[in-house]
Amino acid sequence: MKIGQQLFRTIWPVTDAALPGHYQVAIIDQTALPHAWRILTLNSVQQMVDAIRKMQVRGAPLIGAAAAYGLALASQQSSTDETLQAAASSLLASRPTAVNLRWAVERMMRELLAMPEALRCAHAWLEASRIADEDVRINQSIAQHGLALLQALAAEKPGCLNILTHCNAGWLATVDWGTALAPIYAAFDAGMDIHVWVDETRPRNQGASLTAWELQQHGVPYKVICDNAGGHLMQHGQVDCVIVGADRVSRVGDVCNKIGTYLKALAAADNQVPFYVAVPTPTIDRQLEDAIRDIPIEERPADEVHMMAGLTSAGTVEYVRVTPEGSAAANPAFDVTPARLVTSIITEHGCYAPKDLHDMLQRIDPI
Ligand code: MRU
Repeated sequence: MKIGQQLFRTIWPVTDAALPGHYQVAIIDQTALPHAWRILTLNSVQQMVDAIRKMQVRGAPLIGAAAAYGLALASQQSSTDETLQAAASSLLASRPTAVNLRWAVERMMRELLAMPEALRCAHAWLEASRIADEDVRINQSIAQHGLALLQALAAEKPGCLNILTHCNAGWLATVDWGTALAPIYAAFDAGMDIHVWVDETRPRNQGASLTAWELQQHGVPYKVICDNAGGHLMQHGQVDCVIVGADRVSRVGDVCNKIGTYLKALAAADNQVPFYVAVPTPTIDRQLEDAIRDIPIEERPADEVHMMAGLTSAGTVEYVRVTPEGSAAANPAFDVTPARLVTSIITEHGCYAPKDLHDMLQRIDPI
Protein backbone atom coordinates (compact mmCIF):
# COMPACT_ATOMS: atom_id res chain seq x y z
CA MET A 1 0.00 0.00 0.00
CA LYS A 2 1.06 3.55 -0.61
CA ILE A 3 1.86 5.50 2.54
CA GLY A 4 2.87 9.01 1.59
CA GLN A 5 4.90 8.52 -1.57
CA GLN A 6 6.24 5.09 -0.62
CA LEU A 7 4.88 1.62 -1.26
CA PHE A 8 4.89 -0.68 1.76
CA ARG A 9 4.15 -4.27 2.53
CA THR A 10 3.57 -5.23 6.15
CA ILE A 11 6.63 -7.51 6.30
CA TRP A 12 9.83 -7.73 4.28
CA PRO A 13 13.41 -9.04 4.58
CA VAL A 14 16.28 -6.55 4.85
CA THR A 15 19.99 -7.20 4.56
CA ASP A 16 21.78 -7.15 7.90
CA ALA A 17 24.44 -4.42 7.65
CA ALA A 18 26.40 -5.94 10.54
CA LEU A 19 26.49 -9.49 9.17
CA PRO A 20 27.07 -9.74 5.39
CA GLY A 21 24.90 -12.45 3.79
CA HIS A 22 22.43 -12.37 6.71
CA TYR A 23 18.91 -10.96 6.71
CA GLN A 24 16.64 -9.37 9.26
CA VAL A 25 12.87 -9.02 8.97
CA ALA A 26 11.18 -5.62 9.00
CA ILE A 27 7.60 -5.22 10.24
CA ILE A 28 5.23 -2.30 10.79
CA ASP A 29 4.51 -2.18 14.53
CA GLN A 30 0.71 -2.32 14.55
CA THR A 31 0.49 -1.62 18.28
CA ALA A 32 1.78 1.91 17.57
CA LEU A 33 -0.89 2.72 14.94
CA PRO A 34 -2.78 4.95 14.35
CA HIS A 35 -0.81 7.36 16.51
CA ALA A 36 2.74 6.54 15.39
CA TRP A 37 4.40 4.91 12.37
CA ARG A 38 7.09 2.59 13.65
CA ILE A 39 9.12 0.01 11.73
CA LEU A 40 10.83 -2.71 13.77
CA THR A 41 13.64 -5.00 12.62
CA LEU A 42 13.64 -8.51 14.01
CA ASN A 43 16.75 -10.68 14.29
CA SER A 44 15.61 -13.97 15.74
CA VAL A 45 12.70 -16.38 15.77
CA GLN A 46 12.12 -15.49 19.43
CA GLN A 47 11.65 -11.83 18.47
CA MET A 48 9.18 -12.94 15.80
CA VAL A 49 7.25 -15.07 18.32
CA ASP A 50 7.08 -12.06 20.68
CA ALA A 51 5.91 -9.76 17.86
CA ILE A 52 3.10 -12.21 16.97
CA ARG A 53 2.09 -12.66 20.60
CA LYS A 54 2.04 -8.92 21.33
CA MET A 55 0.14 -8.38 18.05
CA GLN A 56 2.77 -6.07 16.57
CA VAL A 57 2.01 -8.25 13.56
CA ARG A 58 -1.51 -9.65 13.43
CA GLY A 59 -4.25 -10.84 11.08
CA ALA A 60 -4.39 -14.44 9.86
CA PRO A 61 -2.50 -14.16 6.53
CA LEU A 62 0.16 -11.87 8.00
CA ILE A 63 0.93 -14.15 10.96
CA GLY A 64 1.29 -16.99 8.44
CA ALA A 65 3.91 -15.01 6.51
CA ALA A 66 5.50 -13.86 9.78
CA ALA A 67 5.86 -17.48 10.93
CA ALA A 68 7.53 -18.38 7.62
CA TYR A 69 10.02 -15.52 8.02
CA GLY A 70 10.47 -16.60 11.66
CA LEU A 71 11.64 -20.01 10.46
CA ALA A 72 14.01 -18.32 8.00
CA LEU A 73 15.49 -16.33 10.91
CA ALA A 74 15.83 -19.55 12.92
CA SER A 75 17.58 -21.35 10.06
CA GLN A 76 20.10 -18.53 9.89
CA GLN A 77 21.23 -19.42 13.44
CA SER A 78 21.22 -23.17 12.83
CA SER A 79 19.50 -25.43 10.33
CA THR A 80 19.52 -28.69 12.27
CA ASP A 81 16.28 -30.64 12.56
CA GLU A 82 16.22 -29.92 16.32
CA THR A 83 16.57 -26.12 15.92
CA LEU A 84 13.92 -25.93 13.24
CA GLN A 85 11.53 -28.16 15.17
CA ALA A 86 11.97 -26.06 18.32
CA ALA A 87 11.39 -22.86 16.30
CA ALA A 88 8.29 -24.37 14.68
CA SER A 89 6.87 -25.37 18.08
CA SER A 90 7.29 -21.91 19.59
CA LEU A 91 5.76 -20.26 16.52
CA LEU A 92 2.80 -22.67 16.63
CA ALA A 93 2.23 -21.86 20.29
CA SER A 94 2.30 -18.09 19.75
CA ARG A 95 -1.34 -17.71 18.62
CA PRO A 96 -3.60 -20.74 18.28
CA THR A 97 -6.68 -19.71 16.28
CA ALA A 98 -5.64 -18.51 12.81
CA VAL A 99 -4.87 -21.64 10.80
CA ASN A 100 -2.62 -19.71 8.38
CA LEU A 101 0.14 -19.86 10.97
CA ARG A 102 0.00 -23.67 11.13
CA TRP A 103 -0.33 -23.84 7.34
CA ALA A 104 2.82 -21.75 6.80
CA VAL A 105 4.87 -23.60 9.43
CA GLU A 106 3.88 -27.00 8.01
CA ARG A 107 4.66 -25.90 4.45
CA MET A 108 8.08 -24.54 5.43
CA MET A 109 8.99 -27.56 7.57
CA ARG A 110 7.93 -30.05 4.87
CA GLU A 111 10.32 -28.40 2.42
CA LEU A 112 13.21 -27.69 4.79
CA LEU A 113 13.41 -31.07 6.51
CA ALA A 114 13.44 -32.80 3.12
CA MET A 115 16.68 -31.13 2.03
CA PRO A 116 20.32 -31.24 3.17
CA GLU A 117 21.11 -28.93 6.08
CA ALA A 118 23.53 -26.82 4.00
CA LEU A 119 20.74 -25.76 1.63
CA ARG A 120 18.06 -25.05 4.20
CA CYS A 121 18.77 -21.45 5.13
CA ALA A 122 18.81 -20.08 1.56
CA HIS A 123 15.68 -22.08 0.77
CA ALA A 124 13.89 -20.84 3.90
CA TRP A 125 14.27 -17.20 2.81
CA LEU A 126 13.13 -18.09 -0.69
CA GLU A 127 10.07 -20.01 0.49
CA ALA A 128 9.07 -17.34 3.03
CA SER A 129 9.21 -14.73 0.26
CA ARG A 130 7.13 -17.02 -1.98
CA ILE A 131 4.47 -17.26 0.73
CA ALA A 132 4.45 -13.47 1.05
CA ASP A 133 4.23 -12.94 -2.73
CA GLU A 134 1.45 -15.53 -3.04
CA ASP A 135 -0.54 -13.75 -0.35
CA VAL A 136 -0.39 -10.52 -2.34
CA ARG A 137 -1.57 -12.27 -5.54
CA ILE A 138 -4.38 -14.10 -3.70
CA ASN A 139 -5.66 -10.86 -2.20
CA GLN A 140 -5.60 -9.10 -5.58
CA SER A 141 -7.78 -11.88 -6.89
CA ILE A 142 -10.15 -11.66 -3.89
CA ALA A 143 -10.40 -7.94 -4.64
CA GLN A 144 -11.67 -8.61 -8.17
CA HIS A 145 -14.16 -11.35 -7.20
CA GLY A 146 -15.44 -9.24 -4.31
CA LEU A 147 -15.71 -6.20 -6.56
CA ALA A 148 -18.10 -8.11 -8.84
CA LEU A 149 -20.36 -8.81 -5.83
CA LEU A 150 -20.33 -5.16 -4.83
CA GLN A 151 -21.07 -4.06 -8.39
CA ALA A 152 -24.03 -6.44 -8.51
CA LEU A 153 -25.39 -4.99 -5.26
CA ALA A 154 -24.87 -1.44 -6.50
CA ALA A 155 -26.76 -2.24 -9.70
CA GLU A 156 -29.85 -3.02 -7.61
CA LYS A 157 -29.57 0.01 -5.37
CA PRO A 158 -28.88 3.49 -6.67
CA GLY A 159 -26.81 5.86 -4.51
CA CYS A 160 -24.10 5.13 -2.01
CA LEU A 161 -23.35 1.51 -1.08
CA ASN A 162 -22.95 1.13 2.69
CA ILE A 163 -20.64 -1.69 3.74
CA LEU A 164 -20.07 -2.79 7.33
CA THR A 165 -16.83 -4.48 8.40
CA HIS A 166 -15.59 -5.88 11.70
CA CYS A 167 -12.03 -5.94 13.06
CA ASN A 168 -9.23 -5.29 10.56
CA ALA A 169 -8.95 -7.48 7.50
CA GLY A 170 -7.16 -4.87 5.43
CA TRP A 171 -3.63 -4.68 4.10
CA LEU A 172 -2.28 -4.52 7.66
CA ALA A 173 -3.73 -7.97 8.35
CA THR A 174 -2.10 -9.48 5.26
CA VAL A 175 1.12 -8.91 3.35
CA ASP A 176 -0.71 -6.39 1.15
CA TRP A 177 -4.23 -5.41 -0.02
CA GLY A 178 -6.17 -7.26 2.66
CA THR A 179 -9.03 -9.71 2.33
CA ALA A 180 -12.29 -8.04 3.41
CA LEU A 181 -10.97 -4.57 2.55
CA ALA A 182 -9.49 -5.63 -0.81
CA PRO A 183 -12.88 -5.50 -2.64
CA ILE A 184 -13.57 -2.20 -0.89
CA TYR A 185 -10.33 -0.69 -2.20
CA ALA A 186 -11.09 -2.09 -5.65
CA ALA A 187 -14.60 -0.58 -5.58
CA PHE A 188 -13.30 2.80 -4.45
CA ASP A 189 -10.54 2.77 -7.07
CA ALA A 190 -13.15 1.88 -9.72
CA GLY A 191 -15.06 5.04 -8.80
CA MET A 192 -17.97 3.39 -7.00
CA ASP A 193 -19.89 5.46 -4.47
CA ILE A 194 -19.19 3.58 -1.22
CA HIS A 195 -19.11 4.23 2.50
CA VAL A 196 -17.79 1.89 5.20
CA TRP A 197 -19.17 1.39 8.70
CA VAL A 198 -16.15 0.42 10.81
CA ASP A 199 -16.89 -1.58 13.98
CA GLU A 200 -14.51 -0.40 16.70
CA THR A 201 -13.82 -4.06 17.67
CA ARG A 202 -13.20 -4.05 21.39
CA PRO A 203 -11.10 -4.97 23.21
CA ARG A 204 -8.10 -4.36 20.91
CA ASN A 205 -9.93 -1.84 18.73
CA GLN A 206 -8.51 -3.11 15.45
CA GLY A 207 -11.43 -1.42 13.65
CA ALA A 208 -11.15 1.97 15.35
CA SER A 209 -7.35 2.02 15.21
CA LEU A 210 -6.31 0.08 12.12
CA THR A 211 -9.24 -0.16 9.68
CA ALA A 212 -10.08 3.53 10.18
CA TRP A 213 -6.42 4.45 9.63
CA GLU A 214 -6.13 2.32 6.50
CA LEU A 215 -9.32 3.66 4.95
CA GLN A 216 -8.29 7.21 5.75
CA GLN A 217 -4.89 6.68 4.08
CA HIS A 218 -6.66 5.41 0.96
CA GLY A 219 -9.33 8.14 0.99
CA VAL A 220 -12.29 5.75 1.39
CA PRO A 221 -15.25 7.40 3.20
CA TYR A 222 -15.98 5.70 6.54
CA LYS A 223 -17.44 6.15 10.01
CA VAL A 224 -16.31 4.34 13.12
CA ILE A 225 -19.21 2.88 15.12
CA CYS A 226 -19.27 1.21 18.49
CA ASP A 227 -19.56 -2.55 18.33
CA ASN A 228 -23.23 -2.54 19.29
CA ALA A 229 -24.46 -0.17 16.57
CA GLY A 230 -24.54 -2.53 13.57
CA GLY A 231 -27.91 -4.19 14.30
CA HIS A 232 -29.63 -0.83 14.66
CA LEU A 233 -28.13 0.44 11.38
CA MET A 234 -29.27 -2.72 9.59
CA GLN A 235 -32.84 -2.33 10.89
CA HIS A 236 -32.86 1.16 9.41
CA GLY A 237 -31.66 0.12 5.95
CA GLN A 238 -28.27 1.73 6.39
CA VAL A 239 -26.16 -1.36 5.71
CA ASP A 240 -26.20 -2.92 2.22
CA CYS A 241 -23.76 -5.71 3.02
CA VAL A 242 -21.29 -6.92 5.59
CA ILE A 243 -17.77 -8.06 4.60
CA VAL A 244 -15.41 -9.62 7.12
CA GLY A 245 -12.23 -11.69 6.99
CA ALA A 246 -11.60 -15.00 8.74
CA ASP A 247 -9.02 -16.77 10.85
CA ARG A 248 -10.18 -20.28 10.04
CA VAL A 249 -12.98 -21.64 7.87
CA SER A 250 -14.21 -25.22 7.80
CA ARG A 251 -14.80 -27.01 4.50
CA VAL A 252 -18.55 -26.63 5.05
CA GLY A 253 -18.20 -22.85 5.42
CA ASP A 254 -18.36 -22.24 9.18
CA VAL A 255 -16.33 -19.09 9.80
CA CYS A 256 -14.12 -18.34 12.77
CA ASN A 257 -13.27 -14.64 13.00
CA LYS A 258 -12.79 -11.85 15.52
CA ILE A 259 -15.08 -11.97 18.53
CA GLY A 260 -18.37 -10.24 17.71
CA THR A 261 -18.53 -11.40 14.09
CA TYR A 262 -21.23 -13.96 14.97
CA LEU A 263 -23.52 -11.27 16.41
CA LYS A 264 -23.13 -9.21 13.22
CA ALA A 265 -24.01 -12.25 11.14
CA LEU A 266 -27.15 -12.87 13.23
CA ALA A 267 -28.25 -9.27 12.83
CA ALA A 268 -27.50 -9.41 9.09
CA ALA A 269 -29.60 -12.57 8.63
CA ASP A 270 -32.47 -11.04 10.60
CA ASN A 271 -32.44 -8.02 8.29
CA GLN A 272 -31.77 -9.80 4.96
CA VAL A 273 -28.40 -8.07 4.65
CA PRO A 274 -25.86 -10.15 2.62
CA PHE A 275 -23.01 -11.39 4.80
CA TYR A 276 -19.77 -11.95 2.85
CA VAL A 277 -16.56 -13.49 4.13
CA ALA A 278 -13.29 -12.91 2.24
CA VAL A 279 -11.08 -15.96 2.62
CA PRO A 280 -7.75 -16.92 1.00
CA THR A 281 -7.64 -20.71 0.66
CA PRO A 282 -4.79 -21.09 3.22
CA THR A 283 -7.41 -19.95 5.78
CA ILE A 284 -9.55 -23.02 5.04
CA ASP A 285 -8.79 -25.86 7.43
CA ARG A 286 -9.48 -29.02 5.46
CA GLN A 287 -8.84 -31.20 8.53
CA LEU A 288 -11.48 -29.52 10.66
CA GLU A 289 -14.55 -31.59 11.53
CA ASP A 290 -16.60 -29.32 13.79
CA ALA A 291 -15.70 -25.62 13.90
CA ILE A 292 -17.43 -24.80 17.18
CA ARG A 293 -16.03 -27.83 18.97
CA ASP A 294 -12.57 -28.06 17.44
CA ILE A 295 -11.15 -24.59 16.75
CA PRO A 296 -8.91 -23.48 19.63
CA ILE A 297 -10.22 -20.05 20.59
CA GLU A 298 -7.45 -17.84 21.91
CA GLU A 299 -8.14 -16.50 25.40
CA ARG A 300 -6.26 -13.20 25.69
CA PRO A 301 -5.23 -11.35 28.86
CA ALA A 302 -8.05 -9.91 30.99
CA ASP A 303 -6.24 -6.58 31.06
CA GLU A 304 -7.23 -6.02 27.41
CA VAL A 305 -10.83 -5.80 28.69
CA HIS A 306 -10.05 -3.80 31.83
CA MET A 307 -7.90 -1.21 30.10
CA MET A 308 -8.25 1.07 27.08
CA ALA A 309 -5.43 2.89 25.34
CA GLY A 310 -5.79 6.39 23.96
CA LEU A 311 -3.90 9.46 22.85
CA THR A 312 -3.57 12.17 25.50
CA SER A 313 -3.63 15.88 24.72
CA ALA A 314 0.14 15.80 25.33
CA GLY A 315 0.49 13.42 22.38
CA THR A 316 1.41 10.37 24.46
CA VAL A 317 -0.47 7.06 24.45
CA GLU A 318 -1.80 6.06 27.85
CA TYR A 319 -3.86 3.20 29.23
CA VAL A 320 -6.86 3.93 31.43
CA ARG A 321 -8.90 1.45 33.43
CA VAL A 322 -12.62 1.14 32.57
CA THR A 323 -13.68 -1.57 35.07
CA PRO A 324 -13.79 -1.40 38.87
CA GLU A 325 -10.56 -2.53 40.55
CA GLY A 326 -11.00 -6.18 41.50
CA SER A 327 -13.43 -7.08 38.64
CA ALA A 328 -12.87 -10.33 36.85
CA ALA A 329 -12.95 -10.31 33.02
CA ALA A 330 -13.00 -12.93 30.27
CA ASN A 331 -11.47 -12.26 26.88
CA PRO A 332 -12.19 -14.87 24.17
CA ALA A 333 -10.65 -13.39 21.02
CA PHE A 334 -12.65 -15.17 18.28
CA ASP A 335 -16.06 -16.72 17.65
CA VAL A 336 -17.63 -19.02 15.06
CA THR A 337 -20.34 -17.93 12.64
CA PRO A 338 -22.24 -20.97 11.36
CA ALA A 339 -22.33 -21.43 7.58
CA ARG A 340 -26.13 -20.95 7.51
CA LEU A 341 -25.57 -17.23 8.25
CA VAL A 342 -23.01 -16.73 5.47
CA THR A 343 -24.23 -15.56 2.05
CA SER A 344 -21.02 -16.02 0.11
CA ILE A 345 -17.36 -16.84 0.66
CA ILE A 346 -15.06 -14.75 -1.53
CA THR A 347 -11.89 -16.70 -2.36
CA GLU A 348 -9.11 -16.19 -4.88
CA HIS A 349 -10.91 -18.76 -7.07
CA GLY A 350 -14.28 -17.01 -7.03
CA CYS A 351 -17.32 -16.59 -4.78
CA TYR A 352 -19.00 -19.66 -3.30
CA ALA A 353 -22.09 -20.32 -1.22
CA PRO A 354 -20.87 -22.26 1.85
CA LYS A 355 -22.52 -25.45 0.53
CA ASP A 356 -20.35 -25.27 -2.63
CA LEU A 357 -17.05 -24.71 -0.84
CA HIS A 358 -16.33 -28.40 -0.41
CA ASP A 359 -16.67 -29.05 -4.18
CA MET A 360 -14.34 -26.17 -4.99
CA LEU A 361 -11.74 -27.56 -2.58
CA GLN A 362 -11.92 -30.94 -4.34
CA ARG A 363 -11.05 -29.25 -7.64
CA ILE A 364 -8.00 -27.26 -6.51
CA ASP A 365 -4.62 -28.43 -5.23
CA PRO A 366 -3.76 -27.18 -1.74
CA ILE A 367 -0.93 -24.61 -1.84
O1 MRU B 1 -6.61 -10.73 16.67
P1 MRU B 1 -6.34 -10.27 15.27
O2 MRU B 1 -6.27 -8.80 15.14
O3 MRU B 1 -5.15 -10.99 14.67
O4 MRU B 1 -7.62 -10.76 14.47
C1 MRU B 1 -7.74 -10.47 13.11
C2 MRU B 1 -9.02 -10.92 12.54
O5 MRU B 1 -9.87 -11.47 13.21
C3 MRU B 1 -9.18 -10.79 11.06
O6 MRU B 1 -10.51 -10.54 10.72
C4 MRU B 1 -8.73 -12.07 10.38
O7 MRU B 1 -7.46 -12.45 10.83
C5 MRU B 1 -8.73 -11.97 8.92
S1 MRU B 1 -7.43 -10.92 8.39
C6 MRU B 1 -7.35 -10.85 6.72
